[in-house]
Amino acid sequence: MIENLTQRAKEVLNGNFQAEGFTIPSKGLYPFQWKWDSGFIAIGFAHYDMEKAKAEIGTLLKAQWDNGFIPHIVFHTENDSYFPGADFHQSNLHPQSSKKYRSTGMTQPPVTGFVLQEMYRIADDKQDLLRFIEEHIDKVYQNHAYFYTHRDPNNEGLMYIYHNWESGTDNSPVWDAIWETMNPPHYDVKRKDTTHVDVSQRPSNREYDHYLYLIDIAKEHRYDDAKIAELSPFLVQDPLFNAMLIKSNEALIELYGLIGNNTEKIRQLKQWQEKSIRGCNEKLFDEALGAYVHYDLRNDRPIRHVTSSSFSPLFAKIPDQDRAAILVKTMLERFGGDDKYLCASFDPTDERFDPRKYWRGPVWINMNWMLYYGLKNYGFLKIAERMRKDSIELIERDGFYEYFDCRKDNGEPNRRGYGGSNFSWSAALLIDLLKN
Ligand code: SER
Repeated sequence: MIENLTQRAKEVLNGNFQAEGFTIPSKGLYPFQWKWDSGFIAIGFAHYDMEKAKAEIGTLLKAQWDNGFIPHIVFHTENDSYFPGADFHQSNLHPQSSKKYRSTGMTQPPVTGFVLQEMYRIADDKQDLLRFIEEHIDKVYQNHAYFYTHRDPNNEGLMYIYHNWESGTDNSPVWDAIWETMNPPHYDVKRKDTTHVDVSQRPSNREYDHYLYLIDIAKEHRYDDAKIAELSPFLVQDPLFNAMLIKSNEALIELYGLIGNNTEKIRQLKQWQEKSIRGCNEKLFDEALGAYVHYDLRNDRPIRHVTSSSFSPLFAKIPDQDRAAILVKTMLERFGGDDKYLCASFDPTDERFDPRKYWRGPVWINMNWMLYYGLKNYGFLKIAERMRKDSIELIERDGFYEYFDCRKDNGEPNRRGYGGSNFSWSAALLIDLLKN
């Protein structure tokens, strides 16, 4: 059974790999290279085809900008099945953008550092992989330097994101209160996502107005970070984004240690690391909710919702043991009923929870994968094992989809997953989870 499932996962990944050296997340719906997808995809490939894993990361890093920025989508090929495409984003407005690769002007959670560490952990030929890491690690370091220089205007060790797509959790109810502070024009555009996926599983047209408007504001200022920090109506410190950065900082410290002769970079990373961990614990932890929450920097207020992102600091060892126990209690109380699979993306006890709609409730395998390792970090082995088993069972039962209903009984006799099918990171991370 395990062999069979692993085999099917490999077929999904191989089927999505492109001749240009990257992997699309899902045919039709997402036909380019996405930053955080590429990281999770590389972890899957690392288990059986290390050359493809290296290609994935190498290709992403080629699209890095001169200021260290790594974009969220790289448009390697022409394809009109996605909106908004390269012509809408116009990354060339930024003076330091890549001259060779068209991309978006926003980023995504910084996973690449810890992905290199995972590839090293998985590799049989450690020497060969360390050579690959040595060739690429400075680009990842420069990306972190970009964040600390341009995305932390108050010097708190907490990076801001200026767009919900930068969070990865696109239409989470977390953003709803921010949308209420904005009144964008109506965009008369042709959505493509809803030609691939049922509208009930995707963001609304009004939400897309907000998404496009934020991009237009950034474009008006040629994607200048300082201007965006000053003017964007959306400016948020996200616990998931910052936990990924912290996890990647730690990975870079370890990998530079293995390479040797990089004391100055290690010193700098440790300094960043200390500041960011402190920032997360002091500013983003909500005692009353027993969870990490987002902070709305523009309107200077915490966004008090519990999401799967609230638990992601476990992955980066941000909380101490006592606080980790509080997080687990919150997770089990709100998300962990016997009638549910772990871990819904949004609080099932909240009235905004929607079990079918993208990041407003469904289970995502990349979040479960991070939470599985996070729970193991603190010795919560039983619930970690539940996280792993639930993830495997969902894919076996519902297929290699993008997201899944957390209800064990959702009333559908022939249930399937939601969103894109043959979804790359579901396949990639399943391969990793089945190895454990
Ligand atoms: N996931 C987004 C989309 O749905 C972009 O990152 O288009």
